Amino acid sequence: MTSTAQNVPHTTNNAGVPVESDEHSLTVSPDGPILLQDHYLIEKMAQFNRERVPERVVHAKGSGAYGFFKVTNDVSQFTRADLFQPGKTTDMLARFSTVAGEQGSPDTWRDPRGFALKFYTEDGNYDLVGNNTPVFFVRDTIKFQDFIRSQKRRPDNGMRDNDMQWDFWTLSPESAHQVTWLMGDRGIPRTYRNMNGYGSHTYMWVNAGGQKFWIKYHFKTDQGIDFLTQEDADRLAGTDGDVHRRDLYEAIEGGNAPSWTLYVQVMPFEDAPDYRFNPFDLTKVWPHGDYPLIEVGRMTLNRNPEDFFVHIEQAAFEPSNMVPGIGPSPDKMLLGRLFSYADTHRYRIGPNYAQLPPNRPHVPVHSYAKDGPMRFEPSRAARPYAPNSYGGPAADALRYGEPAGWETGGEMVRAAYTLRREDDDFGQPGTMVREVLDDAARERLVNNVAGHLLNGVSRPVLDRALQYWRNIDKNVGDRIAHRVNGG
Ligand code: NDP
Ligand code: HEM
Repeated sequence: MTSTAQNVPHTTNNAGVPVESDEHSLTVSPDGPILLQDHYLIEKMAQFNRERVPERVVHAKGSGAYGFFKVTNDVSQFTRADLFQPGKTTDMLARFSTVAGEQGSPDTWRDPRGFALKFYTEDGNYDLVGNNTPVFFVRDTIKFQDFIRSQKRRPDNGMRDNDMQWDFWTLSPESAHQVTWLMGDRGIPRTYRNMNGYGSHTYMWVNAGGQKFWIKYHFKTDQGIDFLTQEDADRLAGTDGDVHRRDLYEAIEGGNAPSWTLYVQVMPFEDAPDYRFNPFDLTKVWPHGDYPLIEVGRMTLNRNPEDFFVHIEQAAFEPSNMVPGIGPSPDKMLLGRLFSYADTHRYRIGPNYAQLPPNRPHVPVHSYAKDGPMRFEPSRAARPYAPNSYGGPAADALRYGEPAGWETGGEMVRAAYTLRREDDDFGQPGTMVREVLDDAARERLVNNVAGHLLNGVSRPVLDRALQYWRNIDKNVGDRIAHRVNGG
């Protein structure tokens, strides 16, 4: 079958067989019934019916691009991780997202933004799945599902509900730091290019000599921090819901590749037990005065994906992808996440998701995994078990034997972290309100909170919310109360 148009390929079905028409089904006479033997028609309908994979249960609306990470400083005294060695450049993928909104939701809703990174290192994939904020709403994995449900839609009417959000937040005072952050300017970035990214959790780094450090990642935008006012965000939500997706795509298409400089805070391993608050609590930052930022390198995003679905929708980030020289910390959120992501990928994309283009490591995979739906890479092991005497892969205990871990012990309990002398829920958000925000930013915070509370929050949740803000800062709490009460 040849195409009548010049210089375009002829249409084929999925098996590569040329088709006879793009426009007409096979029928008995022009006005007669459609025939079941029109396999091409049936293939088109069936394929269309299966075009979607489930959207991510959180962070469903997002955008992404490929790029590279280049090391600019020598941090080899802290980690032996291949991607952080002096002079190294590593290919990477980034995906930015909102959290609570669905696939079609506007980019400008007030929400934290996901900041998910995948580095294709010589030791396999390293995924750093962070947010544009250094803290989080809860500090134990067991509360994550409840938290997310309080931010999504009500089962009875299918609507989002500010009352539900404040109900959860005020009953969970550990949320105060993240909520303060969210209600401030950084709760709606001007673009994805104008926000920072944070690893948020504390991670472990291990150097070539086996020495361990606790670290926190900070990716500072080289485009400068910028934000949208609530009014601008509301307007854009109605006129250009994809504004952040468009901005990222067009900046890269136009040769204006955005970049972020990576810094780490490094805490000596032995500082952790006696630090004044729990350094693994995800609702807290480490003050820069205690642990200053040390430059590591720069990430640049310079290539848009050629197909959004293949490369961004099917991208599967998982905090459990850690490479030699990097390990977890005893953060109860991080430890839960190490299970959750690979599990959701198996459900959302399928058990062989790691073979897809955005997820495939750039080094050979010698795992013993085999078979399963949609597997297209042959198993490399001639005998699918270990140990075997037929040349199958063998673990290298000498090079990779020592886990990046820590000592622990004690009774099995269900309990909060042991309190230290400066562990409280309101101290750090109070510092942010009083010492980091200027007068104008504080005024915008008061307005944003009051506007949110006036939109469907009723007593007694409203009273608890006003007290919550007074606990963060008496003055700011009073101003919010005044505004809510019609002042
Ligand atoms: P610093 O003065 O050294 O740091 C203040 C930090 O606040 C900077 O990282 C700054 O980011 C960030 N910041 C500025 N404006 C805002 C805003 N509107 N919303 C959120 N963050 C903002 O002080 P400390 O390290 O002692 O921290 C003081 C308080 O600052 C903390 O309690 C915390 O609430 C907040 N903070 C601290 C961070 C940390 O890692 N230590 C990180 C982010 C916030 P930038 O330099 O990019 O402008
Ligand atoms: C996405 C679970 C906390 C950042 C997801 C997804 C799940 C999940 C199931 C969907 C993944 C997918 O379908 O591809 C959890 C659990 C948490 C938790 C159980 C707490 C225990 C956090 C925290 C951060 C974070 C603290 C940031 C510091 C992200 C990001 C994505 C995501 C950025 C989107 C990844 C992408 O772009 O594909 N999370 N999450 N999550 N999460 Fe979490």
